[in-house]
Amino acid sequence: MTDTLGFGLLGAGLVAPFHANSLKHSRGGRLVAVCDVDRQRAEKLAAQFGCKVAGRLEEMLEDPEIQVVNVITPNHLHHGAVIQCARAGRHVIVEKPPAMSLRETDAMIAACRAAKVKFACSVQCRVRRPIQAMKEAIAAGRFGKLLHVDAYMKWFRTTEYYHSDPWRSSRQSGAGVTVQHAFHYIDLVQYLAGPVAAVEARMTNLNHPSVKLEDTLLASLRYANGALGVVQASTALWPGTDVRIEVNGTDGTAIMVGEKMATWRFRDERPEDEAIRQLGSEKQATAAGGPADFGFADHQAVIQDLIDAVREGREVIIPASSVRPTVELVLAMYQSAARNEPVTLPIQDDPSIWK
Ligand SMILES: NC(=O)c1ccc[n+]([C@@H]2O[C@H](COP(=O)([O-])OP(=O)(O)OC[C@H]3O[C@@H](n4cnc5c(N)ncnc54)[C@H](O)[C@@H]3O)[C@@H](O)[C@H]2O)c1
Repeated sequence: MTDTLGFGLLGAGLVAPFHANSLKHSRGGRLVAVCDVDRQRAEKLAAQFGCKVAGRLEEMLEDPEIQVVNVITPNHLHHGAVIQCARAGRHVIVEKPPAMSLRETDAMIAACRAAKVKFACSVQCRVRRPIQAMKEAIAAGRFGKLLHVDAYMKWFRTTEYYHSDPWRSSRQSGAGVTVQHAFHYIDLVQYLAGPVAAVEARMTNLNHPSVKLEDTLLASLRYANGALGVVQASTALWPGTDVRIEVNGTDGTAIMVGEKMATWRFRDERPEDEAIRQLGSEKQATAAGGPADFGFADHQAVIQDLIDAVREGREVIIPASSVRPTVELVLAMYQSAARNEPVTLPIQDDPSIWK
């Protein structure tokens, strides 16, 4: 045993190298093993990052060198794995979306609480410095009365991407632009201005006729604080441009483009504002044009935080419980689109949305 925290990756697909690289560059964490039903994928990643291959999750859970499991399998498989890890006393980082229903999300949170293990979720865009600056300015009242908080995601994914693995075009597996790609940005508006009181959503397929999913979402939101919001998200719009997160209040406006602060204007200009305008880099790719076209710095922040939280005996910065309202909002969008009517929150699960 060493004094580093040992990690096991469950899933060796597209997002796995982001987790493995984050661990390679971490302070106090190390990758011990990787497990995938596709053993060749696991072997390839293990050779690249110098770790063991585990045949099954149970093997990782019996390994005393592993204290944390990163659940990075397709979306519909998170729930069972997270509960298994918690019952085995392992801390968990789950990829987004944490689960496909409120029932599953609540069961995962309860299992981790009962086992007294950390349970973080990779909605890593929250750590972007422009988002943190917006969050602090909202809390400090600098925007005045919040009027609008919006997310615009005009991305592009090829039809080949959707057909590269069966789960990527299967509604039951948690595919679809709303729950899959836009989850991060729905999370950001919810994180900044939530809770949401009501949502009206429309979904359509604009540019992937062979895929039986929505590739485009249009949603209007009413936040409980009275502000309005728009979430526009698409993977149909070639070549794909950077996400925009916009916050408008009676006394200020802030806009993040990609991960760069693009606009930061307040009636009460302060000395620190000039530095805040420089936050982020416009050169950092943020997945607008391709599924792996982004850096691992944000994942690294989430994983480093979990390592530090275990050491310091504190809560993680993004507990999965803080993502539950985002799961609820996403489900409300599907319910609204399916019923062709506005939906008020809170909601109950309606499994028919995944049919
Ligand atoms: N946070 C982000 O920015 C981000 C980016 C991409 C993907 N993701 C999320 O990561 C997760 C995985 O996405 P991906 O793009 O890497 O998918 P992927 O299909 O490329 O990889 C998933 C891997 O899981 C494996 N797998 C399936 N069932 C398994 C099981 N029971 N046990 C072990 N392995 C199993 C598959 O063989 C595959 O290799 C999804 O939840 C997705 O939403 C998050």
